[in-house]
Amino acid sequence: MKLFSSVKDIRVFLNEQKSLGKSIGFVPTMGALHEGHLSLMRKAKTENDLLVVSIFVNPIQFNNKNDLQKYPRNLEDDSQMLEAVGCDILFAPDEKEMYPEPINKTYDFGPLAEVMEGKFRPGHFNGVAIVVKRLFDIIEPARAYFGEKDFQQLTIIKKLVEIEKMDVEIVPCPIVREEDGLAMSSRNRLLTPDQRKVAPFIYKTLQEAKLRRNHICANPLRQMIINVFEGNENFRLEYFDIVDDKNLQSINGWNNKVGTIACVAAWLGDVRLIDNIRII
Ligand code: PAJ
Repeated sequence: MKLFSSVKDIRVFLNEQKSLGKSIGFVPTMGALHEGHLSLMRKAKTENDLLVVSIFVNPIQFNNKNDLQKYPRNLEDDSQMLEAVGCDILFAPDEKEMYPEPINKTYDFGPLAEVMEGKFRPGHFNGVAIVVKRLFDIIEPARAYFGEKDFQQLTIIKKLVEIEKMDVEIVPCPIVREEDGLAMSSRNRLLTPDQRKVAPFIYKTLQEAKLRRNHICANPLRQMIINVFEGNENFRLEYFDIVDDKNLQSINGWNNKVGTIACVAAWLGDVRLIDNIRII
């Protein structure tokens, strides 16, 4: 695996590869890698000639300083995992390299960015969009891979590609879970053993929502699941919503023609976890 931290150097190398006709599959990450990340990489590896992975903990997408400070970082472990998965190129720039100039771009994603994560993490998606645009400009991948774990992020990235008219295929990848159902996340390693034990409650509750869809309307189901979360003293619910999978707006009734997902964000101690499940 080749490691680059300079924009100039990776561009020279990738331009060479492109002139040889090699296609690039790209997986942007913030490191602290786990099987969720690796699943994206395996898919990218089979669909492209070269796999490029980036690791950059992007400060401008953190709306909370404490969250940024305690975000897990471990480049050595990450590099080993990347070697094992057959990553060809790791791009791990520092902040100066990524943002040599002050950044003042504001994207308008409309209602997409006003709900759920967008509502509770002001500025978050703007920061994600800025870094992804910059990474796409540097790497110029044929395809880029994003997890459905961050369903709203995936939707925003598709919109970003449309707004910026970028020539890259966005490939969605399914959520990878631990055996007990907890969605894999870099933040899981911040959980205490006791918190880790209760964390699968989130997915169990999402599964319950899915099971009840044939028996109860969307509005009462939403309220019922909110009550279930609020009844568990281990968690502090931020939001639970049942939304359409295109515009991510609350739905009020079932319609088999409208893709529908249930999304949740909840605090377990001082760790914020998100998850979602497809209902229709
Ligand atoms: P990060 O949280 O490191 O995630 C990198 C990619 O891995 C994202 O596309 C995310 O959805 C995916 N992913 C994480 N956990 C997953 C799981 N359990 N199953 C499937 N995919 C999973 O998301 C980011 O970084 C950043 O916002 C980034 C896009 C890199 C921009 O900074």
